[in-house]
Amino acid sequence: MRDIKIITIDGPAGAGKSSIAREIAKRFGFTHLDSGAIYRTIGIACKKAGINLENEKEVLEVANKIKIELKDGKVFLNGNNVTEEIRTPEGGMLASKVAQFKEVREIVVKILRELAKGKKIVIDGRDAGTYIFPEADLKIYLTASPEERARRRYKELLEKGFNVSFNEILKEVIERDERDKNRKFAPLVIPDGAVIIDTTEKNLEEVLLKISELINFRN
Ligand code: CDP
Repeated sequence: MRDIKIITIDGPAGAGKSSIAREIAKRFGFTHLDSGAIYRTIGIACKKAGINLENEKEVLEVANKIKIELKDGKVFLNGNNVTEEIRTPEGGMLASKVAQFKEVREIVVKILRELAKGKKIVIDGRDAGTYIFPEADLKIYLTASPEERARRRYKELLEKGFNVSFNEILKEVIERDERDKNRKFAPLVIPDGAVIIDTTEKNLEEVLLKISELINFRN
């Protein structure tokens, strides 16, 4: 295995980034950093605070005040476990709203770089390979058709017991993609040098195999 310290996995909503990153971390002994979880937590915190999510100043005030911790795959907001709560479709929408703001992103990047210090990490997100860790050793861009991504998200939510409609999920996935690709600061783009993997017709194991090969053999 070549000397890899940082692996980034970027891509649109529901491409499988988190599941893949978690599994790669387990197999290769890396720490998994889920950058979306932090945006989701800030989004939920803003909702709890009852502020206007379009108002950058108000969002920033909340983001500066709260304490976010990532521990053993769990997420804590001011000491409370919000791991499940942030995973709702609403959590995703709230996240993509607060993620538009430059200063909010700067807070998140600081948290992530701090968490990564001295560790081998695999991080998934939208700007992991472009803005958070442009120096990453291996950059992956995971994608799939919007319908396939919505189908996976739909299945996942049904399994968790949520009462959701496929069309609603597809609409949200597309809306979130648009917002993430078109924001001014650190938008979702394919990082320079990234290996693009289209997972539309691939299962988890096939994607893991491909990334494992890249980790083991790529120079
Ligand atoms: O799992 P999924 O791809 O649906 O979402 P996520 O990775 O938890 O991210 C939720 C939202 O946070 C995204 O739609 C982005 O708006 C935002 N995000 C971001 O802007 N930058 C990141 N590095 C990670 C997430």
